[in-house]
Amino acid sequence: MIRRTHQDRVIAPSLLAANFGRIQEETTRAIRAGADWMHLDVMDGHFVDNISFGPAVVQAVHESNDVFLDVHLMISRPDHYLSRFIAAGSDLITVHVEADHDVSETLRRIREAGCQAGLALNPATSISAVEPFLGQIDLLLCMTVVPGFGGQSFMPEVLPKIEQAARWREERGLSYHIEVDGGITLATAELASRAGANVLVAGSSTFGAADMAAAISAMRNC
Ligand code: DX5
Ligand code: ZN
Repeated sequence: MIRRTHQDRVIAPSLLAANFGRIQEETTRAIRAGADWMHLDVMDGHFVDNISFGPAVVQAVHESNDVFLDVHLMISRPDHYLSRFIAAGSDLITVHVEADHDVSETLRRIREAGCQAGLALNPATSISAVEPFLGQIDLLLCMTVVPGFGGQSFMPEVLPKIEQAARWREERGLSYHIEVDGGITLATAELASRAGANVLVAGSSTFGAADMAAAISAMRNC
């Protein structure tokens, strides 16, 4: 599997918006429609006010499809569950800076296991909260909605945080991806990309599109 850089545009459909009764077929549909990664939104009903799925679903997707698994842990104790998501076949594991763990230690453990490490921050969290960890990550996820549910509206007040993350990356000679997640449509994908994001997570606007391939292609070229 080729390793994409922050210069590549990466389209990552979110499984949260798929038909949970047909996960294997839905994943295959996304890959055939041009998805680069699959974004798996794990929710524990505590860190966010919703429950989605756990390591067993990550493993099922890993075993049934050959696709890069971008696993987003919206859970309070990512350190406690980390080994299970690694064993399930995650390629990249993103944890929240707001969660209840030693962020630096969790990021170290993710990379030590051979996975890529991502760090996420919610819209209300200052970009300064992630600054200490920029040298330890392969991806920074700037949430563009309050996490927990798909189908929400993009929050443009997040754009300056994306721009700051891109500036820091250049100034410090780093190479982390900048990912956005939540309310990503063709229009907001263009705004986020212009601000510096290169990994676009989209649920409703890809799985919900009449023509998923056309939606992904348009998002890739906007
Ligand atoms: C929020 C989820 C959503 C999902 C994408 O916690 O992370 O952002 O992935 O949802 P859409 O693309 O439907 O806004
Ligand atoms: Zn997500």
